[in-house]
Amino acid sequence: RTLRIGLIPGDGIGKEVIPAGRRLLESLPASLNLKFEFLDLYAGFETFERTGAALPEATVVALQSACDGALFGAVSSPSSAVRGYSSPIVALRKKLDLYANVRPVKSVRSPGAKQIDMVIVRENTEDLYVKEEKTYDTPQGKVAEAIKRISQRASSRIATMAGEIALRRQKIRKAGGTSIHASPLVTITHKSNVLSQTDGLFRTTAREALATARFVDGGVAVEEQIVDSMVYKLFRQPEAYDVIVAPNLYGDILSDGAAALVGSLGLVPSANVGEGFAIGEPCHGSAPDIMGQGIANPIATLRSAALMLEFLDEEEAAARIYAAVDANLEEGRLLSPDLGGTAKTEEVVEDILRRL
Ligand code: NAI
Ligand code: MG
Repeated sequence: RTLRIGLIPGDGIGKEVIPAGRRLLESLPASLNLKFEFLDLYAGFETFERTGAALPEATVVALQSACDGALFGAVSSPSSAVRGYSSPIVALRKKLDLYANVRPVKSVRSPGAKQIDMVIVRENTEDLYVKEEKTYDTPQGKVAEAIKRISQRASSRIATMAGEIALRRQKIRKAGGTSIHASPLVTITHKSNVLSQTDGLFRTTAREALATARFVDGGVAVEEQIVDSMVYKLFRQPEAYDVIVAPNLYGDILSDGAAALVGSLGLVPSANVGEGFAIGEPCHGSAPDIMGQGIANPIATLRSAALMLEFLDEEEAAARIYAAVDANLEEGRLLSPDLGGTAKTEEVVEDILRRL
């Protein structure tokens, strides 16, 4: 099978880590029977300064018509608003209907330490982020309002995706033999005790979607947690979570919070996922403070490439990458400076490729 992958380095260290992702894909063992064709695509602040568009139409068209998936590095946003500039990744999510943001957070295995191995599945199209806001004057002063929109359709498809991810993670864990979770678990996050209509609809719809035979027969357990107590437990007992599914706003907050539980932003991958399409994207930004030094941690991007492969149904290739990355981290000999090591990006990549 040949997969066509769009490569969008973007700005800053995006240009250092995306080539690492490409090398990784090119270095997968031949026994996997997987070939890649790469398309170099452009987006970001530099692209905006050069062409006037942060997300050129050619990039969107190429992704839609000529790619099976993509890797996105990072983009810089100007610190104060620049006319005509808006975030290309937000625009891409809309244009390609990438309705889920998937963020796995996994700790390095070490003796005596608690293990964290969870994934947050965030709905990415609605909730408060529909951005329908207004401000009006009253005799007591201004009042601002925002719409929080929750639909059955979006809630159902995000919960279904969470269930599918739970099943697949279990499969990959079994293949890799490093499971901390005995069986798959999905935690539905909401605040329906207060917002009985909006979060209430999310909750009941997610419950229904996860009660189908496919998930029940697959052994997927389902629990619920109110978002505020969820934050408490996420920090106290992170090892208790496998897959977390949440509406947009809670998911945004939980996924950044969870990323803080493991050593460095340079470790945390993500994927923007739609129907039959996935863009892998490290969670970190363009890191201007370390760009050009060759010391960016490539692991977030390598894991993002694996995550993209998962959504393209290449689970075995993904499992190989995860195992190679975990082995590099567990040995702890070749680590980049953000993890307390002295290795260059190149050396970390080499070590991981060797372990594939
Ligand atoms: P950042 O994620 O770029 O950097 C935060 C800190 O983490 C820095 O000290 C950086 O050196 C370190 N870091 C990040 N990734 C690393 C890696 N792979 N290896 C080693 N160290 C790493 O966030 P910051 O500094 O707030 O933003 C910088 C620029 O990136 C801004 O223009 C911001 O708008 C943009 N940004 C873009 C994102 C995206 O494209 N999705 C996400 C976050 C920020
Ligand atoms: Mg965020």
